[in-house]
Amino acid sequence: MSENEEYEKLRRIEIERIDKRRIKRIKDEDFYETVEEVFDKLTLMALYELINRGFIHVMYGVVNAGKGARVYWAEDAKGNDVAVKIYLTFSAEFRRSILMYIEGDPRFTRVKRDTRSIIYAWARKEFKNLQRAFNAGVRVPEPYAVNKNILVMEFIGEGGVPAPLLKDYLPPNLEDFFLKVLNYVKLLYTRASLVHADLSEYNIMVWNDEPVFIDIGQAVLLSHPMAEEFLVRDLNNILRFFHKNDVDVPELEDVLRWVKGEGGI
Ligand SMILES: Nc1ncnc2c1ncn2[C@@H]1O[C@H](COP(=O)(O)OP(=O)(O)O)[C@@H](O)[C@H]1O
Ligand SMILES: [Mg+2]
Repeated sequence: MSENEEYEKLRRIEIERIDKRRIKRIKDEDFYETVEEVFDKLTLMALYELINRGFIHVMYGVVNAGKGARVYWAEDAKGNDVAVKIYLTFSAEFRRSILMYIEGDPRFTRVKRDTRSIIYAWARKEFKNLQRAFNAGVRVPEPYAVNKNILVMEFIGEGGVPAPLLKDYLPPNLEDFFLKVLNYVKLLYTRASLVHADLSEYNIMVWNDEPVFIDIGQAVLLSHPMAEEFLVRDLNNILRFFHKNDVDVPELEDVLRWVKGEGGI
């Protein structure tokens, strides 16, 4: 079979995999568009591998289409819901925006500078950061697999509907929620040696009224030259948001010290 035929075959397999019973099923023409735009040949091959390994069984609809990545709701071979984050491999703008988070990370010193290599490194970086955070006891989607530009993780939500973001839904006990968020920042720092670096109400989901940190690709190790700056920015975002929503928040300096394990709040 020629490469093109193989590609066509894979495309057809993917399309056939759409489960017709599900209400959230995307329409065929939308799917074709998605296929054209996101699933270039190499991405499709990577997806196919994940299917063969059982990490993905059925792909359902797009949950979110951002600038750098698409997130899909899917099901694995055991019937569990999973989230599949596929990074776009052609966006030069996205490449530029993430470069500084890769440079300065000792885990990724030998990555080539072309867009595709950078994006693959980025997906691996998000996977590794999720593992570190998860092992440190921070509530994040459990990471399952990474292959090229595709990351498979626990689906936060139910029936294909993602849990709301903090910006859209305030849990009942906001004070308590705030302290849990701060505690995760501390666990990230002290146990995982990571700073999230894009923490805000946009990257915290509310699931069963508990915080779940997401979108952790840009998180940096404490050795990163800008780690401290990113931590201050993260904490400022958090304090600003909760203050705006009538939570009594401590001073930044005190929180900073506490997060680093150097004092109480
Ligand atoms: N594990 C997940 N389970 C369910 N929905 C998710 C998951 N990860 C991301 N999402 C949804 O996709 C959106 C975008 O994901 P995110 O990782 O923040 O990427 P982006 O870089 O596009 O901001 C999130 O706001 C959330 O609604
Ligand atoms: Mg995000």
